[in-house]
Amino acid sequence: MLKNISKDLEDEYNMLINNQKAFYNHSVNVALYTKILLNQIKKDYPSCKINDTLEFYIEMASLLHDIGKVKVPLYILNKTEPLSYLEFDLIKKHPQLGYIIVANNFDKLAKTNEDRKFVEICKNVILFHHERWDGSGYPYGIKGNKIPWEAQIIAIVDSFDAMTYSRCYQEAIPKDEAINKLLKDKKRYNKYILNSLKKAEKELINTM
Ligand SMILES: [Fe+2]
Ligand SMILES: [Fe+2]
Repeated sequence: MLKNISKDLEDEYNMLINNQKAFYNHSVNVALYTKILLNQIKKDYPSCKINDTLEFYIEMASLLHDIGKVKVPLYILNKTEPLSYLEFDLIKKHPQLGYIIVANNFDKLAKTNEDRKFVEICKNVILFHHERWDGSGYPYGIKGNKIPWEAQIIAIVDSFDAMTYSRCYQEAIPKDEAINKLLKDKKRYNKYILNSLKKAEKELINTM
């Protein structure tokens, strides 16, 4: 199905990847950490019944989680000075912008139930990855298990990579420190998924 995605979207995504190395690295790191965390969750909670197909769909969706940023001007994504309120507000729209991109490009390509399942997972990850367990996230401020569980996973690995990867505006911190920060902030995340992240700590090595 992914082979049939429109040329325009592919061009926009490639443009972002080529112009913003940090965006590419972050997307790959998040997908890599998602794979590691899913494997740990499968060991810790076998009743979750995560099969290989579901695991693959979530990993692919995690690679696309920030796709809405193709609609955010590059000067804002690359800005090293503090963002203005309006600029920050535009960045915070990327979950909805990404959802619209997927709805416009993927919905019409989904022919089978499997395709539709993949599109649903992509939409959930993209739209809800900045929601937080205690309702402090965005865009809707939904809480707990109202947040699709695949988005709860990406929320954790996304925050972990944000802390452990150096950006133009922020120095990286060591991974044990990042996990401790997440654990301190545990009211914002699914505690079971956080426990699995802690157990997988040694395997969480970014390649970018
Ligand atoms: Fe994001
Ligand atoms: Fe992200």
